[in-house]
Amino acid sequence: MTDATGGARVAGAPTLTIDGLSAGFGARTVLHDVSFPCAGGRVTAVIGPSGCGKSTLLRCLNRLHELQPRAWVRGEVTVKETAADDARATAPTDIYDSAVDPGALRRRIGMVGQRPTPFVTLSVFENVAAGVRAHWPRLSRPALQARVEEALRRSGLWRDVADRLDGNAMALSGGQQQRLCLARALAVQPDVLLLDEPTASLDPLATQRIEELLYDLRGAMTVVLVTHNLLQAARISDDTVFLLEGRVVEGSASRALFTAPRDPRTEAYLTGRFG
Ligand SMILES: Nc1ncnc2c1ncn2[C@@H]1O[C@H](COP(=O)(O)OP(=O)(O)OP(=O)(O)O)[C@@H](O)[C@H]1O
Ligand SMILES: [Mg+2]
Repeated sequence: MTDATGGARVAGAPTLTIDGLSAGFGARTVLHDVSFPCAGGRVTAVIGPSGCGKSTLLRCLNRLHELQPRAWVRGEVTVKETAADDARATAPTDIYDSAVDPGALRRRIGMVGQRPTPFVTLSVFENVAAGVRAHWPRLSRPALQARVEEALRRSGLWRDVADRLDGNAMALSGGQQQRLCLARALAVQPDVLLLDEPTASLDPLATQRIEELLYDLRGAMTVVLVTHNLLQAARISDDTVFLLEGRVVEGSASRALFTAPRDPRTEAYLTGRFG
């Protein structure tokens, strides 16, 4: 959480708990009774074969799923603040509670989708600034510029775009657009960051930058990372969940899951025998 001038966060990164979550489209069920925690300030990786429901799951965590035609969701996703002491701890909030404003929720739980989605008519600068302006309308111009620059630096894009901030975002390459969307998400200072294949179209150097960023965010932000890159999941996540056909097969500390999976299906996936 931040104050009106975009100052320092006062609360710790919250824990998201997914409890009995099912979701789908019309008669089709994509997620079946999914439950696992995304611990506050940690990186939780979600892995699994193409089509198993990883992107659908992420979209359920900030209520984007429900915006699609015929989409439905059942179950609970709760957010619990990590307080410095138990006395300040608050009760968990169900993000699907009718009192929750989805717009405010999506600032707190930011997302970078699998395909880059820059605002097509806006400049590079405005792509990152738009959300900041919407949430902090009284921020001064220099503070806004500083916020945009910081977000672009953190996403590893600043050097590429510093001299073309007023250029159209659609002139950027696919990998640059992906980092622009990451900068846009970081700029509004979310407490939780949902990342869907954030390095899928990046070169090794840009990928390393993003992995370092995720490492640095530890503690300050709760990250849920969908990736097909198993080495990446093993390198940078604290916990990993293996999803198969919309069901959780197993989830545990990443070190344990990658070195000694309990379920033969996890082992088969990790060793490339399917998926
Ligand atoms: N808008 C939609 N309408 C109907 N079915 C959908 C829709 N979006 C996704 N699906 C279906 O839901 C299932 C899960 O899709 P999802 O995109 O969540 O998979 P994924 O694990 O992210 O796959 P990938 O690794 O290829 O990105 C797929 O079978 C897909 O066809
Ligand atoms: Mg996907």
